Amino acid sequence: MARRAAEHRAQGRHTVDLTLGEPDFTPPGHVIAAAQEAAGRVLGYSPANGLPALRRAVRNAVKRDRGLEYADTQVAVGCGAKQVIFNAFFATLLPGDEVIVPAPYWASYPAMIRLCGGLPVVADCPAASSFRLTPQALRAAITERTRWVVLNAPGNPSGATYSHDELAALAEVLRRNPTVMVLSGEIYAHIRYDDREYVGLAQVAPDLRERILLVDGVSKAYAMTGWRIGWGLGPSDLVRAITAVQTQNCTQTAAVSHLATVAALEGPHGILVERQATYRCRRDAALAILRQSPHLDTMVPDGAFYLFPRLATGDDLAVADALLEAGCATVPGSAFGAPGHPRLSFATDITTLKWGCRTVVDVLDEVAS
Ligand SMILES: Cc1ncc(COP(=O)(O)O)c(C=O)c1O
Repeated sequence: MARRAAEHRAQGRHTVDLTLGEPDFTPPGHVIAAAQEAAGRVLGYSPANGLPALRRAVRNAVKRDRGLEYADTQVAVGCGAKQVIFNAFFATLLPGDEVIVPAPYWASYPAMIRLCGGLPVVADCPAASSFRLTPQALRAAITERTRWVVLNAPGNPSGATYSHDELAALAEVLRRNPTVMVLSGEIYAHIRYDDREYVGLAQVAPDLRERILLVDGVSKAYAMTGWRIGWGLGPSDLVRAITAVQTQNCTQTAAVSHLATVAALEGPHGILVERQATYRCRRDAALAILRQSPHLDTMVPDGAFYLFPRLATGDDLAVADALLEAGCATVPGSAFGAPGHPRLSFATDITTLKWGCRTVVDVLDEVAS
């Protein structure tokens, strides 16, 4: 849809792009300064699991932000969270192994699982269950072939997070299924709008830590998508396997980015709070417009920068086409395993966002009339 939006623009048609899955900010100034300084140093090949300073910064950050302690041998680094996830699936999945993926999902999860020979098993988590995996749905999806379950919170595209009790209930099911690993995708943990402290499964169920790979990175929180640094924290044997895959597919992620990430994690964090406030303003402005439409039911996202309203009627693919024709590019929910929803990103300026949301409301009126 982003490509089609760009084509429309190239033809001179007014088109706003609400498809973006990345912040519209630059990285913090001290990160850019650190990268400039690093670029002047001799930086050769560095360890596949990251420079020691990077691993240390990651461990300190997860201790500061989540109260979790990890050893140096429990940190894997890749070209973004994406490569860490891919490496983990590549290192562990045998043909036909199943991975439970709650829907709506980030489209790359099932694609990566398939590329690694596994079978994505989609567990529907509709708007009625606030887009969260329930213990019943988890239990029903587990089979003898289940190798992993993916938990992603705040979720892309739903923005949903789990409470402590909801995670505790999922942990109970996992305790009864000791061979199932958990991939906890926490890349949006710094972009949240509730005042609760962030909790992930590793905090709620420390006894399951040996089965959890906590995945995070600098892409979303620090607006560093192009810098390609993500990490996985988990049991040492899994981290060793992930690092072995990393070594043979691209050696390491760029060392300049390692040092920029150290600066991001260790530097001042005020800018994250400011940006969170900006996202919140945008979210609320977009919600105020979308809620005027009788054809949409929009849940308030707890985190991330997407709105994922439910269409009262209509096919999300046709609606996405109609919206694009009217000048607003969105992503149809079918891409996330949840037809019947458009996804609107609010990682864009407020004028563009408001114009796009008004277009959505108008187009749905027209479609319904
Ligand atoms: C849930 C989720 N995980 C990971 C990523 C990718 O992160 P990275 O840029 O660190 O590879 C995305 C990007 O859209 C995402 O939505």
